[in-house]
Amino acid sequence: MKDKFPPQINETPEWKKLEKLALKNLTLGNLFSDNPARFRDFSVQTEHIFCDFSRQIINNEILKGLVALAEAASLKAKISSMFKGEKINLTEGRAVGHWALRVPAGKPAVIDGKDMSKDIQEVLGRISAFTKKVHSEKRIRNIVSIGIGGSSLGPEYLAEACRPYARNGMKLAFVANVDGTDFAIKTSGLDPAETLFVIVSKTFTTAETMKNAETAKDWILNNLDGNKEDLIKKHFIAVSTARDKVEAFGIDPENMFTFWEWVGGRFSATSAVGAAPLSFYLGHENFEKILEGARWMDQHFLKAPLDKNIPVIGALIDIWNINFLGLKTRALLPYSQLLWKIAQHTQQVEMESNGKGVDIHGRKVEFDTGEVVFGEPGTNGQHSFYQELHQGQVIPADFIGFIKPAYPLGNMTDKQVDHHHELMTNFLAQPDALAFGKVSDDPARTFEGNRPSSSMLLKELNPFTAGALLAWLEHRAAAKGFMWDINSFDQFGVEHGKKLGVAAREAMLGDKSRIDAFNPSTRRMFDAIMNGELPS
Ligand code: F6P
Repeated sequence: MKDKFPPQINETPEWKKLEKLALKNLTLGNLFSDNPARFRDFSVQTEHIFCDFSRQIINNEILKGLVALAEAASLKAKISSMFKGEKINLTEGRAVGHWALRVPAGKPAVIDGKDMSKDIQEVLGRISAFTKKVHSEKRIRNIVSIGIGGSSLGPEYLAEACRPYARNGMKLAFVANVDGTDFAIKTSGLDPAETLFVIVSKTFTTAETMKNAETAKDWILNNLDGNKEDLIKKHFIAVSTARDKVEAFGIDPENMFTFWEWVGGRFSATSAVGAAPLSFYLGHENFEKILEGARWMDQHFLKAPLDKNIPVIGALIDIWNINFLGLKTRALLPYSQLLWKIAQHTQQVEMESNGKGVDIHGRKVEFDTGEVVFGEPGTNGQHSFYQELHQGQVIPADFIGFIKPAYPLGNMTDKQVDHHHELMTNFLAQPDALAFGKVSDDPARTFEGNRPSSSMLLKELNPFTAGALLAWLEHRAAAKGFMWDINSFDQFGVEHGKKLGVAAREAMLGDKSRIDAFNPSTRRMFDAIMNGELPS
């Protein structure tokens, strides 16, 4: 099998060269003292985002080596193949077409040889009309979006990022967990008469979502008078690819908004998955702005040279940190409280895409793919885990900052700064503190520094830039998968984990044969859960 396919990326001369360069033990202190203006070589200026990666532990030779590695991996060709709608998701036999959702009306969006632009615009048009009708009736004030994983994380990141743009009086909540707490808390205090449920599920089979959907149906039918069909028609819409299952649930196909199997769950926020809840909450014109921002990043990713391409630079640096410096965790640190959901969404985009063990040819990969991503908005994280960042493990970080505040508060005087500038003092200080550290006679107060980070600065957070950041995350993960030659677009591991749950459920329903299949440890806890007492 080895000879049939091209060499794996870690067997290329470009990889071997980078392994040698990694032995140089560069330090950021020296790199900056050798070239104080290094930001010129290690930054990307674009119309909407300034990206400064000068605090990454790289020099020009390494950057050139990473670009050479990208060329050896045919990165440009793979990016182009995705944007041509080719079936690059080999294990599922699908194209990867989330970029097509952002193609403007009138322009071709070819997926697997078929122009999907009319279908895409038809769904957007129906969602726009439906939301305008609901807004004009003034009956619905609460939207509850029921979905999990990509059917909630991306839309919730966008909803929170764009909160200042929400329509007056319109509330949006996301119910994801099958833990009844989620549904109970999110519907607490809502008037069923004013509530619309959006059931979001690509497959319309995900256990958590279907259980919450049934509970929502009971909640409406038990609290409102009227004909069951009418009540469901008035209070439920569905977003799915599975029309038959939506109808079987009782939702009128008229109230169903489709997307397509070539849109992966974690890449679906710019499909009806995001459009339905967000058009109600923000107004469809703001959702269109999200699409415009994602489209701008799509074009940048497709056209910018590799060494001036923000998602590609992010991917190359991640590969340098993971595979050559052994730094397999990354912190995402947005200095905007509105981005408090971006890390959760990024965890799925990165870790469900690239936490893989074989390449697209089925060969085991002998190098790390994927990384553990976590994060919190600054400055909250500074009072939570930054101690680890400063004096514990070396964890590369991504800082995101904005020139203009979302909520201006306080005054700038000659004695004090306002809230936003106070926030920005931290956005400015933390990367240098991590990079350069500080020597002290007291070992407990010595900071080694040489902690790498990149900083992204944008003018302001709005639907456009929220959409651009969404696409930045999607393309950075995809670019790494292309370089590692793995399939970033399937997720069989998740299905495996859930299969064992089916046995437990059947055992709980009395199928003794399933109980006997459990190992003693699981059996002990199973018995305790069913008996209502801790193991004795
Ligand atoms: O986590 C597995 C997964 O299939 C995700 O990829 C997806 O976003 C989520 O479950 C929900 O799937 P569905 O939209 O089909 O309910």
